[in-house]
Amino acid sequence: MTVEPGAHAEIEIRGLHKAFGEHEVLRGIDLEVARGEVVCVIGPSGSGKSTLLRCVNLLEEPTAGQVFVGGTEVTDLDVDIDAVRRRIGMVFQQFNLFPHVTVEENLTLPQRRVLRRGKAEAVRVARENLARVGLAEKADAYPAQLSGGQQQRVAIARALAMGPELMLFDEPTSALDPELVGDVLAVMRMLAADGMTMMVVTHEMSFAREVADRVVFMDGGRIVEEGPAEQVVGAPRHERTRHFLTRILDPAASEPPGPESPADRESSQGQ
Ligand SMILES: Nc1ncnc2c1ncn2[C@@H]1O[C@H](COP(=O)(O)OP(=O)(O)OP(=O)(O)O)[C@@H](O)[C@H]1O
Ligand SMILES: [Mg+2]
Repeated sequence: MTVEPGAHAEIEIRGLHKAFGEHEVLRGIDLEVARGEVVCVIGPSGSGKSTLLRCVNLLEEPTAGQVFVGGTEVTDLDVDIDAVRRRIGMVFQQFNLFPHVTVEENLTLPQRRVLRRGKAEAVRVARENLARVGLAEKADAYPAQLSGGQQQRVAIARALAMGPELMLFDEPTSALDPELVGDVLAVMRMLAADGMTMMVVTHEMSFAREVADRVVFMDGGRIVEEGPAEQVVGAPRHERTRHFLTRILDPAASEPPGPESPADRESSQGQ
């Protein structure tokens, strides 16, 4: 999808800073995600990807700057944050399913508690979304009886059952055995094709290339580079992005960390 100038931004982040004590983790992030757009966020460990995602639904409180979701400022002190969070689905590396209830109940309980849906409607929506992720036949199973990939698809279905207008994913496939990753990515691909607005922190570069409208590369709490996936992943402009991609696409080729920092390398470009 191309983003029209002036298209309505589903997520708008302006001058976002976040510090934990003395440690400044986000150092001025400006980012817009248009309605229906899929943005993948990549970058080394500790660069602030999860913190950025968590600032969008105020799981972390920004130190400075503004965040808007669907036009509502979530950083406004008077915001009804519960109302904003109901519009945002979040999927983490760990699935966080309730272990002691069935798959279907994992989907109906939040609908009933948070959205106050009646039982029949909650069950109908639960089954619809389990079918959407290919797990209709697992409704009566318990989470422990499912594979990690199936559990993650249940977690996605649980988020979808709340009717979110955007979805945040934080490394949804990182805890999975490699052979289970594909099914979860297939569900995410389907969501993207259905027009869901998605912000996805991932190390799956082939997914980013294929599905993302835009890729954002973060390092050291800043956005170093952003653009179409084929550009950022296929032909990165910055040395730091190239260095990161080389390591992630071929971990065996990574050299041990030396005295030369990535930032030094960037300033000596053109060799
Ligand atoms: N609650 C917290 N208290 C203190 N420091 C934190 C907290 N959460 C994150 N940090 C620090 O902020 C920095 C960025 O963390 P963040 O989790 O956003 O990075 P990340 O890019 O998601 O990394 P990874 O790829 O390992 O998940 C790290 O140095 C981390 O130790
Ligand atoms: Mg993280």
